[in-house]
Amino acid sequence: MAGNGLGRFFRITTFGESHGRGVGVLIDGVRPNVPISVDEIQKELDRRRPGQSGVTTARQEADQVNVLSGVFEGKTLGTPICLLVWNKDQDPKAYDAIKDLFRPGHAGYTYLSKYGIQDYRGGGRSSGRETAGRVAAGALAKKILALRGIRVVAYTKEVGGIAARRIDLDQIEKNPVRCPDPKAAKAIERKILAVKEEGDSLGGIVEAVVIGCPPGLGEPVFDKLEADLAKALLSIPAIKGFEVGSGFAAARMKGSEHNDEFVAEKKTGKVRTLTNFAGGILGGISNGENIVVRVAVKPTSSISKAQKTVDVKGKEKIIKVEGRHDPCLCPRVVPVVESMVALVIADHLLRQGFVRKGPGRVRHEIDFLDDMLMLLLSQRQELVRDIGRWKKKHNQRIPDPKRERQIMRKRLSLGEEANLDDAFIQELFNAIFKHARRIQRIV
Ligand SMILES: Cc1cc2nc3c(=O)[nH]c(=O)nc-3n(C[C@H](O)[C@H](O)[C@H](O)COP(=O)(O)O)c2cc1C
Repeated sequence: MAGNGLGRFFRITTFGESHGRGVGVLIDGVRPNVPISVDEIQKELDRRRPGQSGVTTARQEADQVNVLSGVFEGKTLGTPICLLVWNKDQDPKAYDAIKDLFRPGHAGYTYLSKYGIQDYRGGGRSSGRETAGRVAAGALAKKILALRGIRVVAYTKEVGGIAARRIDLDQIEKNPVRCPDPKAAKAIERKILAVKEEGDSLGGIVEAVVIGCPPGLGEPVFDKLEADLAKALLSIPAIKGFEVGSGFAAARMKGSEHNDEFVAEKKTGKVRTLTNFAGGILGGISNGENIVVRVAVKPTSSISKAQKTVDVKGKEKIIKVEGRHDPCLCPRVVPVVESMVALVIADHLLRQGFVRKGPGRVRHEIDFLDDMLMLLLSQRQELVRDIGRWKKKHNQRIPDPKRERQIMRKRLSLGEEANLDDAFIQELFNAIFKHARRIQRIV
């Protein structure tokens, strides 16, 4: 089956069905030495997993990630990374009663028409469960972006006609519907629970913002940044619409209202815009402002209200879908949207690295290495702090010249192999030792 992959340089292929053995993703194109822990991937999967609250499906899946390849001692190897989540809480019996019926709004009819065979249990490949692989890959993409100071954040903007009036990013993970406005969140939660009682479901709008994206990402003309974002986001099951910036509202505005006027930022001289109706993208290329996209999420199709359908033989029937379904998909779609946006931005970031030539490209590489250096220094600082606490507890002296001499000897010998100047290594490590002694004294 074609069409299971996304991205040019940061490429993912997802696999698995809802009620098969498991779901997952194969990722190719990640550089070596990117620090990534299982916990970082798990944290993202936990945000997507079913059974989180009364407004999500009751299916209980731990969604524990297994790293099968491509990561060694907490760092990427530069080889393909395979992440797998076993399916544990499948309940195929729930589908026995409707196994020959097409669920209205679901993909059974089209899958069967196309392939002549389908795994009817839980929607098979068309299930929202497939998105676990996307979210696992998204964790890695987010890490790569974070190293460049780029953050992707998504939230439920509207459900059942109730819209967030304020956007407070700190509030998103504090309520089960992932809405940035606590007042709207409460009203949305009540409405979802009431509609669930009626055996029905609700749709909504999820918005995503990319903060800190540099200008220059996007490849005109067919791989424009918004075109790739639209494709990635519309590939999520149950997404029915896509907007960037002002989106469809632009159709009702005048040019004088819609144009984002350019200004030169006083402090930095950077080119900025006074408004952001463009949503951070002009001509398919990021302009340095926040990228803002929105998707329309349809109401979950599996509802227990009686509806007309036909069976696989074409006979008309009545269907009621019992079993465990999300009464509103928005809260679980939020981490999927974040992941898809992060995957597209990471892919374009890598592509941009290849477009730049001469000093621009080299500086790009240097920036990346400097970012890694900062991360390693911060990790070292944490370990030094731990040792400091241990020394304090055991009344040990802070300066340890013997250990410092050992470290220096080893680094000088490695430095020789790496063609690094002795004097530079000495200066660097003397500065590191001085800093370590200082922070150990204050722990
Ligand atoms: C995270 C997630 C969870 C989903 N859970 C359900 C569900 O419990 N029941 C359901 O009918 N559809 C669910 N869906 C949506 C279906 O997978 C989707 O509507 C179906 O495959 C038909 O595809 P389409 O809506 O894109 O046309 C979910 C989607 C996502 C992204």
